[in-house]
Amino acid sequence: MASYDFVVVGSGIAGLSYVVKVAEHFQSLKVPVKIALITKTIAEESNTKYAQGGIAAVWDQTDSYEKHIQDTMVAGDFLSDQKVVEIVVKEAPERLKELISYGTQFDRKEDGSFDLAKEGGHSDNRILHYKDSTGNEIERSLLEKVKSFSNVDFFTHYFAIDLITQHHLGEKVTKDTPGKKCFGIYVLNKKTQKIETFLAKTTLLATGGIGQIYQSTTNPKIATGDGIAMAYRAKAFVQGMEFIQFHPTSLYQPGKKPSFLISEAVRGHGGILKNADGSTFMEKYDERLSLAPRDIVARAIDSEMKKNGTDCVYLDIRHISKEEILGHFPMIYNYCLKELGLDISQEMIPVVPAQHYLCGGIIVNEFAQTNIQNLYAAGECSHTGLHGANRLASNSLLEAIVYAHRAFLKSVEEFGTQELPLGIPDWNDEGTRHPEELVLVTEMAKELESIMSNYVGIVRTDRRLKRAYDRLELIYLEHEELYRQSKITVPLCELRNMINVAYLVIKHAIAQKENKGLHFNLDNIHQN
Ligand code: FAD
Ligand code: SIN
Repeated sequence: MASYDFVVVGSGIAGLSYVVKVAEHFQSLKVPVKIALITKTIAEESNTKYAQGGIAAVWDQTDSYEKHIQDTMVAGDFLSDQKVVEIVVKEAPERLKELISYGTQFDRKEDGSFDLAKEGGHSDNRILHYKDSTGNEIERSLLEKVKSFSNVDFFTHYFAIDLITQHHLGEKVTKDTPGKKCFGIYVLNKKTQKIETFLAKTTLLATGGIGQIYQSTTNPKIATGDGIAMAYRAKAFVQGMEFIQFHPTSLYQPGKKPSFLISEAVRGHGGILKNADGSTFMEKYDERLSLAPRDIVARAIDSEMKKNGTDCVYLDIRHISKEEILGHFPMIYNYCLKELGLDISQEMIPVVPAQHYLCGGIIVNEFAQTNIQNLYAAGECSHTGLHGANRLASNSLLEAIVYAHRAFLKSVEEFGTQELPLGIPDWNDEGTRHPEELVLVTEMAKELESIMSNYVGIVRTDRRLKRAYDRLELIYLEHEELYRQSKITVPLCELRNMINVAYLVIKHAIAQKENKGLHFNLDNIHQN
């Protein structure tokens, strides 16, 4: 059993930037604190690492906070919390300056000013980026910074299983129990296969998204909704799970998981969506054409594919010079050439929508606090109110750094006020045995992905959602029985978490009777 002042789960932008701030703060005060950073695979693996387009902030004289706020509200179909939108937009430049001070590079023009890009739903050029590999650059610089602190214990290949609450002291804890507290987390050391207890006065969940519950997603393997599922089981409040963002343009490569993203910045740079015969179609759907917000573009593509009976549409950038393509999108150019033998300066790029982002998550207040004391959440696993019914492009990395900062402010203020109770038990797995049939887990995961993709995708109906709910329940019951009998393994736990978050997505989708942003149910149209 180890005891820490701060335990952070997740080494993407949210977890890393929080750790940098906390470590720096106490180091500069010469106050000794113990900080643990836990991540389930290698240090850099995260959604953050794959971010392409960039990070939004008002930077230019022609732009204004009002415009960024309005764009965020419009993209979110006016379900965003205006106060939160104002906080995030106005704090953005300060947080970006900090990132730059940590060593993050963003592309600049010859005159030294930032080369600001445009993406769907933005009324101005305000995306800071590093070529088409912005996330990799952010991850690199934050990891370097974290590793420079001696007061951080970094645990890679450690898998967080469950939060520790009063429940583990034998008390009954429900959603309505007042004064619920978090005392840390049980974690599987993947190398020893032992479950270790990390006691913590403050715990931050920064575990990212849920893409793996879909057959086709841009999210890497780690995105199994672990933090949301853990928090939900510990009776934290969760909201907005019906708002699943499908990115309009992932590269069409059947069977490839995760799907490779063709950044929205490509459309921001003049790329045009077309059918196979070269005809454009976005004019039928929205006056902003290929740069309409993602929910609209993804639905338009889905509709064209269904109408024409095709497996993909195309993104045409042949009118952009090869030099410019290589200057801005070298990673995308090289990937298409290597994987498909496709020279995107000469041929159209086949694209399809793929799950990309979760707008909902663990409800947090303006300081990233959940309804459980001493438990914070930041980044994609949280629900701050910023995104409403649909996230504006490049607002996710931004939300993560703004809320990691706000979590830092509050948790430092609360430092020294929390007590850990005596008698927290270690994990008990008496009576369990090593699962003999891992094939069951693999097959259940495949069934779950198929249910979510077929019935809870871009276009939904009441009947599809009901079918998804009924089918998922069977998987849930089967998995629960296996889980109770088995020693913990990562695939078993990840599937448990995927079942939990899929259940929340379906439940929230069934409850949402209005078509807003990313939630589109044909029966809502017929009823209203
Ligand atoms: P992540 O970066 O996903 O990090 C989660 C961390 O938690 C990982 O280290 C993971 O290993 C760890 N973890 C999870 N579960 C456990 C567990 N049980 N135990 C231990 N560790 C665990 N957004 C933008 O704003 N701009 C973009 O240009 C952009 N491009 C994108 C491109 C792609 C291909 C993708 C997939 C997403 C993109 N996004 C973009 C979205 C954005 O990258 C993510 O929303 C953001 O990076 C999430 O950061 P995070 O810190 O919350 O989580
Ligand atoms: C992209 O580059 O298209 C992704 C941007 C985002 O998800 O915000």
